[in-house]
Amino acid sequence: KKWYAVLGHPIHHSISPRMHEAWFQKYNIEASYVPILVKPGELEKAVDSLKLLGCSGFNVTVPYKEEIIPFLNELDVSAKVAGAVNTVVNRDGQLIGHNTDGRGLLANISGLSEEKRVLVIGAGGAAKGIVAALKERHIRTLFIANRTLEKAVQLAEWASGTAITYSQAEDMFSTFDIVIQTTSVGMEEDISPVNLKGWHPSMTAIDIIYSPPETAFLRQAREEGAFTMNGLSMLIGQGALAFELWTGIYPDQDYCKKTVFSS
Ligand code: ATR
Repeated sequence: KKWYAVLGHPIHHSISPRMHEAWFQKYNIEASYVPILVKPGELEKAVDSLKLLGCSGFNVTVPYKEEIIPFLNELDVSAKVAGAVNTVVNRDGQLIGHNTDGRGLLANISGLSEEKRVLVIGAGGAAKGIVAALKERHIRTLFIANRTLEKAVQLAEWASGTAITYSQAEDMFSTFDIVIQTTSVGMEEDISPVNLKGWHPSMTAIDIIYSPPETAFLRQAREEGAFTMNGLSMLIGQGALAFELWTGIYPDQDYCKKTVFSS
C-alpha cells in the first residue's frame, strides 16, 4: 500500500490528510496520508526516514518549504522560481521538489486571462510563488504593492511587473480586475494591510488566508459587490495538483469541498 505524508511544525491543524484521504477514497486508490511533526533541526533525518520507509510522496508546509531544498535530488521549474517546495515526488528513490501553491491558486480563478490587470499585495515568500505562476500564465499587467517598497521593486523587476506603494495602490485601485492579498495581515487581527475602497462587481478579491474565512480585506470587497475567494481555494488547488503529481489523476475539488469542509 502506498503512503504519503505532510511535514511541518506545527502540523496538527493541517487539513491535507483529510483532503487527500477523501480523494483516495473517491478514486478507489489504496493509499494513506499521514501528518508528521518535524522538530526544528530534524528535517534531514525525517526525509531520510521517509525514503527508508518507502513514502511515495509528501507535502512540505511551514516552516520547511525552503529548508527542504538541499535534501532533494531535483527541482521542478515551479519550485526553482519560487525558491520553495510544497510537494515532493519520490521517483524510485529520487526526490523531486515541486511548488503547486501558485498554480493551484490560479487554477481556481475563473476567467483569468493574459489581459487581466492583476494587483498582488505583499512581496514575501507567498507572493513570490503566486507571482511566478502569474508570470507562467503570461499576465501582461502585473502590479505588486508592498509596505516595504524595495521588496516589491525586486519582485516586480524579476517578473516584469510594476512596484507600487500601498497609497499608490489605493489611488489606482479601481483599474484592477483581480487583487490577490498574500500577506499574513488579517490572520490574527481583523485588519487589512491596505485600505482598498471602490470595489465593483467585475472585480475579484482573493485572500490566501482561510482562517478566519473572511478577512477584513475580503469583507470590504464583498460588501462593495466584488467576487471574493478565500485561501481555501488555494489550499484545495495546491492539494489537487499534488494529488495529480502523485497519482496522475486531477481530482474533483468540489467533492473535496463538500466532504471535507462542509462539516
Ligand atoms: P510569507 O512567506 O508568509 O509571505 P514573508 O516572506 O515574511 O512571509 O512576507 C510577509 C509579507 O507580509 C510581506 O509582504 C510583508 O511586508 P514587508 O515586506 O513590508 O515586511 C507583509 N506584512 C507583514 N506584516 C505586515 C503588516 N503589519 N503590514 C503590512 N504588511 C505586512
